[in-house]
Amino acid sequence: MKALSLFLIAIFGLSPAYGASCPEKTPKQWAEYFIQRSENLASSLRPLEEIWEDCGATFELNGVKACAERVLKSARQTQYTRYNGHSMGWEVSDTDYISSVPDGYLDLPREFKDGLPANYQELAREKGWKMVEYRSRTVPNPPYGSFSRVLFLIEGEKVDKWIQFTLPEDPNNKERLIDFIALEKPEGPNDKATPYFTQYWRDGNSRNPKMRTSGSFDNCYSCHPNGMRELSPEPGSYSAEGAQNLDYMREAMTNYTAGRGSVDWGGALHPEEYGPPMGQAQGCVKCHNNGDGMHEFSRGAITGRHDRGHIRHKMTEDKTMPVSMLPMEKSFLDFMDNIPNVLTEAERQQFSRAMLPYKRNQGAMYDAAVKWMSENGKITDEEKQRYSFILNGHPNYPACEDQPDCYKGLKRFNKYYEEMMEQYPDQLKAWRTEHCQDLLTEEQDHSVNDSGRATEGFIERATDFIDGVINGGSER
Ligand code: HEC
Ligand code: HEC
Repeated sequence: MKALSLFLIAIFGLSPAYGASCPEKTPKQWAEYFIQRSENLASSLRPLEEIWEDCGATFELNGVKACAERVLKSARQTQYTRYNGHSMGWEVSDTDYISSVPDGYLDLPREFKDGLPANYQELAREKGWKMVEYRSRTVPNPPYGSFSRVLFLIEGEKVDKWIQFTLPEDPNNKERLIDFIALEKPEGPNDKATPYFTQYWRDGNSRNPKMRTSGSFDNCYSCHPNGMRELSPEPGSYSAEGAQNLDYMREAMTNYTAGRGSVDWGGALHPEEYGPPMGQAQGCVKCHNNGDGMHEFSRGAITGRHDRGHIRHKMTEDKTMPVSMLPMEKSFLDFMDNIPNVLTEAERQQFSRAMLPYKRNQGAMYDAAVKWMSENGKITDEEKQRYSFILNGHPNYPACEDQPDCYKGLKRFNKYYEEMMEQYPDQLKAWRTEHCQDLLTEEQDHSVNDSGRATEGFIERATDFIDGVINGGSER
């Protein structure tokens, strides 16, 4: 498609040299044009960029700018892909992103220059680095699909380094990935924290880490809408010492954005341009709103650029979203968090092994955890009943309306996820063309054009023709 439009531009001479030749249309006609374009963003990018170049000044004068700009920016987002050198998901290329990071921020500490040293646990204690070894619930890391990790927090005056090594699940596997976020702390009450992301890849012996190269990164933003991603490890997959560090880390993450609403993406992202925050009718936007709204709660919005599997996971598997509203639900999640503190280390390891079969069925893991704790005498029958009730709700739900304990249960699949996904495409569409819709309803059917041009009829026919070709000729 790209080659074709370049060819057409060559024959019709629509080069930037003709920058002033903006087709003459009324604002209403422009609005219609952009609405039509918004239906097919990827193939519209090139013509939209050209129109913007030719007509930017005109749009400023005739009030079409807001309409044109939003559709164009939406079209640009179709380019932030692995295939265009944007595997990290930023608006800038991977290469530009990495080279814009201040010197030293993404350097591994000397101790990690050859990978994870065998004495890493002692090393962390000695150095005062916070460390937690845990199993992720959600993300199998390449190349072997391991869920095990060790995460270090190395605090600095200006920058905190969060460095996470994938650990082998099978001792024969030589793991390779290192995830790394350098978090530049806010400098004053009006400043925001800035995260810098990268990944290193170790050799076939887990040594000699090298930064990944353009195109081979993971798309960080798709799962990290708020910069740091709060840890939600599998219950009991970390030691009691790890639990302390985990609390510390969670608090550090919260503090980066507390009262500030969001992180500073340093121009690599403009989340407010990615559509309306998702989950308006589901109560998510109270918190996930890009810093609009009450800053105590605000964090990065969830949008169409986010990994659906992760949104679903938070809602239907780890069941933490929307944030547990009832004290009893919170008590359940606290009970899960606290498991390492009520077991001996040997018991914890047994527990953790007992959870393995539920790796691919997180919904059943909570039940299995309650059962294990009960069978091993760690909770009373009463506690077991209470936790099972919180998890599963009233047996007759929803037909229990007349009873005081008519409760749905954490585990019962809530319809929010489906509902939200069903509503979002229309919300996104409406948002993209919101300003264009305004022009349709206003009395705007007159043309304003500041670039008097003799060729207007021809150019207009040419661009219409190009539109037709690029969109398979079918959209009009
Ligand atoms: C598929 C989703 C996903 C993608 C893509 C992803 N992450 Fe994460 N990341 C997570 C989750 C979830 C956690 C929290 C730990 C857990 O429960 O697994 C996390 C945690 C981390 C951590 C530990 C600190 C923290 O924020 O919790 C680092 C460092 C990290 N990711 C770096 C990266 C980098 C760098 C990229 C892109 C190159 C990236 N991640 C891409 C899901 C993802
Ligand atoms: C009361 C505030 C609040 C509400 C309401 C809320 N969230 Fe969250 N959300 C949070 C906090 C705090 C975190 C980080 C802690 C965590 O990951 O558990 C988070 C994390 C997430 C994450 C992981 C990415 C991230 O931002 O770190 C997703 C996905 C998510 N929420 C989705 C949702 C969805 C979908 C809804 C609505 C159904 C929702 N949330 C409602 C506060 C909220």
